[in-house]
Amino acid sequence: GLFIFVFFCFFCFMSQCLFPTGSHEYEVFRFALAQHQDVPKLVPQVDMVDTGSSFAMTYAFCSQFSKGVYAIMGLYDRRTVNMLMSFCGSLHVCFVTPSFPVQTNNQFVLQLRPQLQEPLMALLEHFYWTRFVYMYSSDSGLTVLQRILDTAAERSWQVTSVNLDTMTEGTFVKLLADLDYKKDFQVIINCELERLNYILNLVKNLKNYHFILANLGFLDLNITEFQKLAPNVTGFQLVNRTNPAVEKINQEWMGFDSKDLKLTRKRLKYTGALTYDGVNVMVKAFQNLRRQRIDISRRGNAGECLANPPAPWGQGIDIQRALQQVRLEGLTGHVQFNERGHRTNYTLTVMELSLKGPRKIGYWNEKRGYVNTAVYRPLTEEIFGLLNKTYVVTTILEAPYMMLKKNHEQFEGNEKYEGYCAELAAEIAKHVGFTYRLELVGDGKYGARDPESKMWNGMVGELVYGKADMAVAPLTITLVREQVIDFTKPFMSLGISIMIKKPTKSKPGVFSFLDPLAYEIWMCIVFAYIGVSVVLFLVSRFSPYEWQAEDSDEEDETVLSNDFGIFNSLWFSLGAFMQQGCDISPRSLSGRIVGGVWWFFTLIIISSYTANLAAFLTVERMVSPIESAEDLAKQTEIAYGTLDGGSTKEFFRRSKIAVFEKMWSYMRSADPSVFVKNTNEGVIRVRKSKGKYAYLLESSMNEYIEQRKPCDTMKVGGNLDSKGYGVATPKGSPLRIPVNLAVLKLNEQAVLDKLKNKWWYDKGECGHKDSGRKDKTSALSLSNVAGVFYILIGGLGLAMLVALVEFCYKSRIESRRMKVNYTTTTTTTITITVYTRKCISHIIKTQGRFPIMFVDMTFILFFLYSKIQSGTC
Ligand SMILES: *[C@@H]1O[C@H](CO)[C@@H](O)[C@H](O)[C@H]1NC(C)=O
Ligand SMILES: *[C@@H]1O[C@H](CO)[C@@H](O)[C@H](O)[C@H]1NC(C)=O
Ligand SMILES: *[C@@H]1O[C@H](CO)[C@@H](O)[C@H](O)[C@H]1NC(C)=O
Ligand SMILES: *[C@@H]1O[C@H](CO)[C@@H](O)[C@H](O)[C@H]1NC(C)=O
Ligand SMILES: *[C@@H]1O[C@H](CO)[C@@H](O)[C@H](O)[C@H]1NC(C)=O
Repeated sequence: GLFIFVFFCFFCFMSQCLFPTGSHEYEVFRFALAQHQDVPKLVPQVDMVDTGSSFAMTYAFCSQFSKGVYAIMGLYDRRTVNMLMSFCGSLHVCFVTPSFPVQTNNQFVLQLRPQLQEPLMALLEHFYWTRFVYMYSSDSGLTVLQRILDTAAERSWQVTSVNLDTMTEGTFVKLLADLDYKKDFQVIINCELERLNYILNLVKNLKNYHFILANLGFLDLNITEFQKLAPNVTGFQLVNRTNPAVEKINQEWMGFDSKDLKLTRKRLKYTGALTYDGVNVMVKAFQNLRRQRIDISRRGNAGECLANPPAPWGQGIDIQRALQQVRLEGLTGHVQFNERGHRTNYTLTVMELSLKGPRKIGYWNEKRGYVNTAVYRPLTEEIFGLLNKTYVVTTILEAPYMMLKKNHEQFEGNEKYEGYCAELAAEIAKHVGFTYRLELVGDGKYGARDPESKMWNGMVGELVYGKADMAVAPLTITLVREQVIDFTKPFMSLGISIMIKKPTKSKPGVFSFLDPLAYEIWMCIVFAYIGVSVVLFLVSRFSPYEWQAEDSDEEDETVLSNDFGIFNSLWFSLGAFMQQGCDISPRSLSGRIVGGVWWFFTLIIISSYTANLAAFLTVERMVSPIESAEDLAKQTEIAYGTLDGGSTKEFFRRSKIAVFEKMWSYMRSADPSVFVKNTNEGVIRVRKSKGKYAYLLESSMNEYIEQRKPCDTMKVGGNLDSKGYGVATPKGSPLRIPVNLAVLKLNEQAVLDKLKNKWWYDKGECGHKDSGRKDKTSALSLSNVAGVFYILIGGLGLAMLVALVEFCYKSRIESRRMKVNYTTTTTTTITITVYTRKCISHIIKTQGRFPIMFVDMTFILFFLYSKIQSGTC
């Protein structure tokens, strides 16, 4: 191609130049010079050269050099760039260029065009591209290619590079077909504007593609056609068109020369803007030199350019320094050069196409890298505009969330699937209002990051790498996943739970009538019965009112009798306890107190027993050995384990809670291994191990399997942790907010509960089981009835006290009646002796023999009594 090569100098007197029309850069160059009519006046020396020809370039350069130019501005070509640079370096002539950047340390070449490597890499990072096609033209694309290949080798990306220079339209179309076949949908295109326009025209009808344009003039492209299809195109924009200063210069440019030009001018392109800034950089540099009074005048013919050794121009270095130190705010933003003559401290706007046209999605600068500023608002024109699009919803086969229908061959598309998530996806689509297509995840995985390649697999990978728009599946919300994709609020909450084999129902045993009361209550009742009988006996012995006079035909002494011997006392208590009564009953107050509290005790115990018995006899009780994680942790008979390599195992490994740590140390060291390869294996192991294996898994799955035939597993205890399943979308997706709102709405309208009931219980195979599930009738424990025992003990104590009082009182009366005027002690002794003698004679008389025990007890009590007597009575 024919490019122009523009030289110019300052204070030159002659301006005999050949101006070709057409080149945008040249036009802008002229425009820029016309704007600077002030001192120092720049006088251009313009040569038009074929930049591809070394000979022409050398000739032009040397002729300009010998004429004494101060600096050169122009375009170069990849074939002549090296030659040009070596000239500049050896002769100390500055070359200012809006051409594509080259990697060079030659300080005499000032490149106005910013480098694209870093922004492009940042964008690839942002989009998680790891497999893509890089199309380039060899002029501008080679330095970027180098950088991409280096990174690809480092991170094992798959990059296909395509040199556009070697392409014809035919081969290009073939290439596109090839890409389509290989599903290489991510493409970077790096070439100049004209060719880019041409290529975009060829690819505008392609679906599913995402293009990144490695070009600084996104808004300079002809994208009116593209816009209607709203494909994924991302690119960079250097010139800030919203800046009023930029717009003012653009207006002046449009009006410039309009009288002699027939054609209407187009907007200033970014290459023009670079040229304009280049001229400004020069003007500013020369102004600075002049202000600093540095003499840069050249007199006569300065030198021979092909001299050997080369004779550099003495003042060249001053000019180079002045140019490099220029800082200004130009059309291309902040203009500043580093010591190698490259642009530095610049900002690129990152843009993408939407239906309404190009829009800014972020920016890149050296300090902060790529900053995403795009805000996707829900239900704006964008989402409405995309409603006609069919979204790809990735999912995974997992009962009961997503299952193939039994006769799925007869159906097409989404109809093939059924399950909780299938219906959830339909509900969400209905609420948000989009169409979708369910697709099973290719590798059948949920999504984890490979520690080596750092690639995501499974459904998460499909979202990250743009193969799907949404994931509706039992996908747990976790931190690492949330970092790369967006989750909605959870549609289902769950936690780790315990699955055990259902214990066989225990038939009521022959002694099950004992069950309603706990063992210790029975023991206490027995002791209470004995205690009460003994107390009753003692009390009756002591209480004088219990003794009855019997008619006696012999002797003068009245014979006293007492019904409450030890056996009668036992009989009385037993009769009362069995609620049958007894034909003897106490007459003394103390005896009646004993009887009263015993009857009360009996009343309460018997009614409690009766009440509980009914429940016990009707319910077949399921005795589950394990009720909680604590139960599991403190036994060793039942083995327990988790899925190998899942989040449940991870939970135990990480847990700091003592019970779980204990469980983890058991599971880790158990032999044979308690870990299973998949959920199904775990369930089978539970079923086959006769209750000697418990499996820890997520509660939703546990509840589901409980409802599956052969109905022999059950969930016990609460959940050990809590987490949620969420619907996932790629980061920054326009679907995110509307889908999230839809999930919340479905939750509030109880649709989610309905779905869960439908797929868990209504479709369960084990029938409704609400009986025996929660109503655990357990034996009454001692603490339930302890109060009755306290009353009983209190009553017995009271009765004994009353008996003593009665005894004391009666013996006083008696002694007074017998007019025996002894000291108190003697009276008592006599009284006791009288009674005792009477008793003994009575007993011997009635029973024929002398009960040892009776005597013992009497004497012990007598001893006690005399003690009390001497003290208080
Ligand atoms: C945009 O890209 C996504 C994935 O990156 C793709 O699914 C979608 O179809 C593309 N859109 C168009 C219109 O090509
Ligand atoms: C942009 O493309 C349209 C249609 O392809 C064409 O009519 C128009 O002239 C083009 N504009 C420019 C500036 O190339
Ligand atoms: C573009 O210019 C406008 C107006 O001066 C300014 O508000 C905006 O921040 C600029 N954009 C960039 C990316 O510099
Ligand atoms: C970068 O540019 C800004 C103006 O845009 C300037 O204030 C700042 O000093 C520059 N930074 C450096 C390191 O030169
Ligand atoms: C969706 O497509 C139908 C025809 O397929 C069209 O009538 C309708 O206007 C389109 N809607 C939007 C929002 O583009």
